[in-house]
Amino acid sequence: MSHKSLNAGLAGINAGETSISTVGKEGVGLRYRGYAIEDLAQHASFEEVCFLLLYKTLPDKGKLCEFRERLREKRYLPTDIKTILQHLPANSHPMDVLRTGVSVLGCLEPETYNNNQNEISERLLAILPSILFYWYHYHRSGKEVITDVKDNSLAGYFLQLLHNEPADINHKAILNKSLILYAEHEFNASTFAARVTASTLSDFNSAVCAAIGTLRGPLHGGANEATMELLEKFQTPDEAEKGIKDALEKKQVIMGFGHRVYKKNDPRSPIMKQCAQTLSMTTGDSHYMPVAENIEKVMWDKKKLFPNLDFYSAVAYHLMNIQVALFTPVFVCSRLSGWAAHIIEQRKNNKLIRPNAYYIGPDPKNYIPIEDR
Ligand code: COA
Repeated sequence: MSHKSLNAGLAGINAGETSISTVGKEGVGLRYRGYAIEDLAQHASFEEVCFLLLYKTLPDKGKLCEFRERLREKRYLPTDIKTILQHLPANSHPMDVLRTGVSVLGCLEPETYNNNQNEISERLLAILPSILFYWYHYHRSGKEVITDVKDNSLAGYFLQLLHNEPADINHKAILNKSLILYAEHEFNASTFAARVTASTLSDFNSAVCAAIGTLRGPLHGGANEATMELLEKFQTPDEAEKGIKDALEKKQVIMGFGHRVYKKNDPRSPIMKQCAQTLSMTTGDSHYMPVAENIEKVMWDKKKLFPNLDFYSAVAYHLMNIQVALFTPVFVCSRLSGWAAHIIEQRKNNKLIRPNAYYIGPDPKNYIPIEDR
């Protein structure tokens, strides 16, 4: 076997140890610190899951209540961040806004060396929606968001900032599930980027900036946005069937399908599909869900490829009136919990991550002085 087929994209390589999650162990399933994703999505709140990821155990009622209050208190925006957000272009990508916000916070509230990484994790979890929606509303209506919101759930806070009214209770429940599903996924590309940065003993916010930049691409977090663009192309399920078959013949990649690790299914996808179905019924949607289900069928029939979490998330977010450009930022608000847990884990038993490369360049050459070339 050539080195290319062996190592391309680090596929199948174990690049370290983790006690945070298992992805597709024996080909299927996802567990956070031993708990099955199905149980967490059905019974837990996103804040409970964050606590589990950060502090390794599920909280009791008292601890959860304190944790939620701490997050609520940490939502405020320093004036300097507001000023910088005002100066960013109105047509920036919201992922760039989040990355910039985290970077600025790293200047205003730099990490100290008295082990305040838990505090920083909580501050980032709390402040990300504030950063996003300050920029979003300032450039649309000139109005400042009110970050002092009673709702102490991230799902409720996000939806309230987006729509300027208390969150619809059903939408909040669905967004809560989605945040749980997106929270953690072992050594995915963005988490790995965060760990590489952390492994150089860099600061916490730099590791998160690296992760946000990595998540932005359509082969990773950006797939939910790309899925929506795909769904918008087709007016009917029949049109979708034809369009997807044509695209496959041209060897195009269909966004929202396939996975590097899962080979049988993505365990998160049926949970999100059910949410999208519920929303489709309650909103009277007769377009997106039928088109999506037909694409799923064609992809299975033709390629034996299954939808990943991003596919039905796109449908669900759209039916909850979340704008496409905000899809990947929702992912950031959730995955921050996983990134934080991994940065902390990497630091605990750190070894600089610095692999080797197979050299495929020219043989050694003698340098020729510029006047002789
Ligand atoms: N559409 C069409 N074909 C796909 C596909 C997709 N979404 N995903 C994989 N395939 C095909 C590849 O073309 C390849 O076919 P081949 O063997 O005939 O060349 C085969 O399946 C293996 O795919 P490969 O690209 O080697 O898998 P990977 O592990 O490198 O890639 C992804 C995994 C996620 C990057 C890939 O499935 C993809 O690009 N999906 C779309 C983007 C997406 O949804 N990303 C979010 C992931 S959670």
